[in-house]
Amino acid sequence: MSDGMSNITGIDPYGFYDQIRANDGLVWDAAMKGWLVASYDDCKMVEMEEHRFRHPYSDADQTLIDIKGGRRNITILQGPEQASMHRFLLRLFAPKNIQHYREHHIKPIINELIGRFVDDGRTELVHSFSSLIPSRVIMSLSAMDWRDDDLARRLFSLHDTVMRWIGNGNSGVEETAAASRAAHEITDILLPYLNLRKEEPGDDLLSRVWTEGPAILENFSDADVLATTRELFLAGTDTTVHALGNALYLLLTQPETLARIEQDRSALPTFIEEALRVYGSVQYRFRLVNEDCEVGGTQVKKDDVLILINAAANRDPKRYECPAHVRLDRKNPKDHLAFNAGPRTCVGAALARAEMYDAIDLLLDNVTNLRLDPDAPPPSFHDHYTRSFRPLHVLFDRK
Ligand code: HEM
Repeated sequence: MSDGMSNITGIDPYGFYDQIRANDGLVWDAAMKGWLVASYDDCKMVEMEEHRFRHPYSDADQTLIDIKGGRRNITILQGPEQASMHRFLLRLFAPKNIQHYREHHIKPIINELIGRFVDDGRTELVHSFSSLIPSRVIMSLSAMDWRDDDLARRLFSLHDTVMRWIGNGNSGVEETAAASRAAHEITDILLPYLNLRKEEPGDDLLSRVWTEGPAILENFSDADVLATTRELFLAGTDTTVHALGNALYLLLTQPETLARIEQDRSALPTFIEEALRVYGSVQYRFRLVNEDCEVGGTQVKKDDVLILINAAANRDPKRYECPAHVRLDRKNPKDHLAFNAGPRTCVGAALARAEMYDAIDLLLDNVTNLRLDPDAPPPSFHDHYTRSFRPLHVLFDRK
């Protein structure tokens, strides 16, 4: 256990998480220079109490501000300004809007992607499907040409680079340089679209940030439009790619669950929550301690780093019966921490859920006998901060 989090890169981390959770108190991770927090109650308490445990970006330096696209990126904003921006972004993804997004953006994208491979009887689902949906959805919602494959793949890859740096605690000379290059390229890609929407506003996300932003933050500037948009693209891309990959993996490895959902789509929403809980796409988040206090029976000091492992909390046996298993009859399936809790809970959760639902629903409408290809390389749980199973080589019959 003393090997720490860094040594579980690319391998199944859940045995390690179980050991930390069973420890009497928090565990210090020397490589990550922080306390590992693995119980559901402790993670949730810290996330809810931002006045005691601040978001690390409250201390953002100029490098972080540049990489995040500006000082008024919601993850850097604090207090009333963050709350105000949070409410605005939640409105963008309110149920009425999500319904519209599904019909006019999400489903057309997914149907087109399925059409590309449905006659082949085989595909690799991450490459041809799950990794392509979220960046295209954000592009489409931003009135960009989502059929531009090269651009969609480039945006996904650039955001992935930035996400890796974030998961690394924003450290490493080479990683910082790579994240900085990626961030500048994302800005260069987005700026012409932002300028166009400023001149000719529509009902897309970029236009809404332009037109509604001035009522959200005082002196809302062009730089603030960029910072807000940059976060929607970053937070809404990589996260959902991994979450959908994990959900597909579970279906492919649990034939009885797949059969049940094929027959009865009313089980799909609970399955999606269980997939988010059992295999977290965002495994952990950081917080800083404001004053000396006790967390999980351990005395922590002002400015100590807490590494909240939501993926471990989501399998806490004190909270969940059979925590490692997908249970389609689980009560309150949405009470997991995959999207965090408290004032910084994910504003795009409804969009992510809609993408996951429509991807699985439409895939199962079009194919049957979906299974892993026994002759192809099997999937494994890749990466560290954001994680998913890859590759997903599958065989199927067209319906
Ligand atoms: C399954 C997919 C997703 C997962 C697992 C996820 C997870 C999270 C988590 C854990 C946080 C809290 C971060 C923290 O406070 O430390 C967060 C915040 C956030 N998410 Fe998501 N997210 C997902 C999809 C999305 C999407 C699709 C969008 C928007 C298009 C989005 C936008 C945001 C934003 C803007 C924040 C910052 C909220 C704030 O600081 O007030 N996310 N997300």
